[in-house]
Amino acid sequence: MILSIESSCDDSSIAITRIEDYKLLFHKKISQELEHSRYGGVVPELASRLHAEALPRILEEAKEFLPHVKAIAVTNEPGLSVTLMEGVMMAKALHLALGKPLIGVNHLVGHIYSLFIEQEARLPKMVLLVSGGHTMILNVRGYNDVKVIATTLDDSFGESFDKVAKMMGLGYPGGPIIEQLAREGDPNRFDFPVPLKNSKELAFSYSGLKNAVRLTLAKLTPLSKRDMADVAASFQRAAIEHLLQRSKLAWERYEPGDFAIVGGASANLALRRLFEAECRRREIAIEFAPLHFCADNAAMIGRAAIEGYKLKHFTPMEELQARPRSQFT
Ligand code: KG4
Ligand code: ZN
Repeated sequence: MILSIESSCDDSSIAITRIEDYKLLFHKKISQELEHSRYGGVVPELASRLHAEALPRILEEAKEFLPHVKAIAVTNEPGLSVTLMEGVMMAKALHLALGKPLIGVNHLVGHIYSLFIEQEARLPKMVLLVSGGHTMILNVRGYNDVKVIATTLDDSFGESFDKVAKMMGLGYPGGPIIEQLAREGDPNRFDFPVPLKNSKELAFSYSGLKNAVRLTLAKLTPLSKRDMADVAASFQRAAIEHLLQRSKLAWERYEPGDFAIVGGASANLALRRLFEAECRRREIAIEFAPLHFCADNAAMIGRAAIEGYKLKHFTPMEELQARPRSQFT
């Protein structure tokens, strides 16, 4: 079995995964959304303190599995250094106590393997990763073979939802709040610009769209419920259209083969519907991370770590360090 730990942002999570058949034997996650909500975003020091409380509590529940653990996996990059550190410290303590090897897992590789929880990996694939920290198109051939073909020049997709929600005083995380609000709104009331619309650049950008929303909101005073729903719907339409336009460019430049969308923001149903329809038209096979494993969790870290374990890709204790950036950023 592999014990895996995730603490890269605001979710404390531990999983136990069976190596032979990828079965998830234990999985628990304590989310800090409520605690950060009043600040309109994640406060790193608060997050770190909450991880220090939550991780040992979860570990206590997984105690019965410890004698069977063959390796200890932990997200060590990318993320917030002070929160990654909490997971890394726990992993090192377990390494010393159990005498089992460590596997440092890249959080983004974890998101990719959220597609294969309790399953064999089906690769190669082109993967669109949409989370709070990243917006990327990746060509994935294996655990150790991930190439970035597009990334964001400024904000990420999920982050832009968080910022728009904050502008309207709606709390954190903004993604689900904006998506919900958009359901009642008119997506064509505001003509927000689709970023990089006339460019062939294989990259993402969300800061211009965010500023367009800010300017529109400034003009809408007082802001009615109707206005808020229409802003949310119009913003979401442009934000998702940008993802689709850039993906089309990537499909034209590279053989798409199979396509998949992962990451916390891939829970967005409007995004799923638009991509499903376009992929059907183009006869591209598309899949999504299961809704339950889109947001940060230790199950995906454990699933990825099994690949590392099979490749004997262990990380010596002195080399295992929390890194805010990774080879992918
Ligand atoms: O992958 P994740 O849990 O954490 C990171 O690795 O960043 O992603 C969290 C991000 C947040 O920015 C959140 O607002 C966004 O994903 N998100 C969404 C939705 N659900 C979560 N964005 C748009 N629509 C959603 N339904
Ligand atoms: Zn994530």
